[in-house]
Amino acid sequence: MSKSTVTVRVPAKVNLQLSVGPREEDGYHNLVSVFQAISIYDDVTITKTHAGSGITISIIGDHTHGVPADATNLAVKAAHLIEKEYDFEIDAHIEVKKSIPVAGGMAGGSADAAAVIVGLDALYTLMMTRDKMFELGSQLGSDVPFMISGGTAIGQGHGDQLTAALSRGTYHWVIALSSVGLSTPAVYAECDRLRAGSTISAPQINDQLMQSLLASNSKAVGRALHNDLQPGACSLRPALTLVLGVGEEYGALGAIVSGSGPTVAFLVEDEEQGLDLAVALTASGVVGSVARAIGPVHGAKVI
Ligand code: C5P
Repeated sequence: MSKSTVTVRVPAKVNLQLSVGPREEDGYHNLVSVFQAISIYDDVTITKTHAGSGITISIIGDHTHGVPADATNLAVKAAHLIEKEYDFEIDAHIEVKKSIPVAGGMAGGSADAAAVIVGLDALYTLMMTRDKMFELGSQLGSDVPFMISGGTAIGQGHGDQLTAALSRGTYHWVIALSSVGLSTPAVYAECDRLRAGSTISAPQINDQLMQSLLASNSKAVGRALHNDLQPGACSLRPALTLVLGVGEEYGALGAIVSGSGPTVAFLVEDEEQGLDLAVALTASGVVGSVARAIGPVHGAKVI
């Protein structure tokens, strides 16, 4: 008998490197993005419903504020894209149990879309190849293919052209969350504004970072963390500079605004240092809340 329900667990991401080229004519920027999937997860459950009921969505969990429970949600768009691509009608309810912060630079919306692609493939036995999933994913958002792949990967083009990166070892992260999100287009626009008049070269893969990942050298990875969107995010949200400073004070191996922010990710030596920093950040009063995570972890997968 075919299944009537499936649950997909999908991680959040941090960027270890985010290098942003000049704004192109289509409004997008060419990127080199080194992603790592980390152990903060959304669980997306898709259940078949009766014929004619269409695609519905509900959001539950810790981080639901600001997530649209309608057709504008990227998860619903993913389901409609699959309907179109495979020419059949989907009657299903999508329940998103959110733990990934909303508008936090951790690809929460993209993660849910990735989960829907993986989930519908399993539920309707569509037999998609990975490449097919990536192709559909990139039509929905630049980060969606990585949320399917997980692990550590380099994204080029708009960030959606993936190659797996060789990485050894486990990395410990402390994640400082903000209670109010930042808009990705606004942060890219601020980045453009701050760089107006300077020459911006095409983004390059940071070899030092890649070698450090291969050698499992977390200190060197910490030193190599770099995000071109960070000045833009800090300009729109000056408190982020204070948050980054707390990590430095407590000896984090590295600190970086994740993607377009406002989440700040601190790389730490081990669990113990992570706990100390989490306590310090909470006590500092400059962050909304704090989470701890490890990476790399798997991408969207049926559980
Ligand atoms: O692809 P996605 O929908 O996630 O992108 C959100 C926004 O981020 C875009 O509308 C654009 O403003 C910006 N962006 C960009 N260059 C990229 C990826 C995203 O300018 N490579």
